[in-house]
Amino acid sequence: MPATDSARDIRIFETAEEVARAAADCFAEIAVSSIDTDGRFSVALAGGSTPRRTYHLLASEEYRNRFPWSKVHIFFGDERSVPATHADSNYRMAEEAMISQLPIPAQNVHRMVGEGDAAANASLYEGELQTFFDGATWPRLDLVLLGIGDDGHTASLFPDTEALIETRAWVVANWVEKLRTYRITLTAPAINHAANIVFLVAGAGKAERLPEVLRGARDPLRLPSQLIQPVDGSLVWLVDKAAAQRL
Ligand code: 6PG
Repeated sequence: MPATDSARDIRIFETAEEVARAAADCFAEIAVSSIDTDGRFSVALAGGSTPRRTYHLLASEEYRNRFPWSKVHIFFGDERSVPATHADSNYRMAEEAMISQLPIPAQNVHRMVGEGDAAANASLYEGELQTFFDGATWPRLDLVLLGIGDDGHTASLFPDTEALIETRAWVVANWVEKLRTYRITLTAPAINHAANIVFLVAGAGKAERLPEVLRGARDPLRLPSQLIQPVDGSLVWLVDKAAAQRL
């Protein structure tokens, strides 16, 4: 059983593999209940490297038959300004690890376009979400998976960037000076209107920032992960021991 912190739902596991499994279990559980209740399951995938193992597990014999993938709608939390074939593409990572292995209807895979005009891509994706959530004020994703960077960023909400103060848009093109590039990202309010949010955090590289994000003074411009607080939903932190060593 993971060690937990009751004030916040922080579950600490021995290994990154256990974090990956716990995330796959969360995904499957929420998928089953969403499909039971609404006939569909909408999830925004995290990018980066940490969730790859979870995606592999979900495509494995152990998980793939737990719910009908024909009812699953795959969205993305953020994307780099690269084409889908590029090694840095979050879409490519998820496609190789999971999407290409599963019977998900092509029209249910909502790729965030990274190549070309970032602002146009952001409004295109907002339009796609608005169509899917048909006139809602904010998207109500069933699940949003997130990672955290060693600088405290999440999705592509980086420290001291414009996207952090966004209060109306669902998706923005966010200029990240330190990377000298635009990132397409869901905004914090769009993420915070999800029914379930799950952070996957693994590795010693996160150990310095995690206590600041979870226990430190509120400073979301410096620690954007602090912006993630569901309006009316659950928030779970799945953390391995290496990342939790200073908690
Ligand atoms: C991205 C992600 C980003 C990621 C963190 C952690 O596009 O990079 O969405 O927010 O979750 O950077 O990345 P790792 O999992 O690689 O540590």
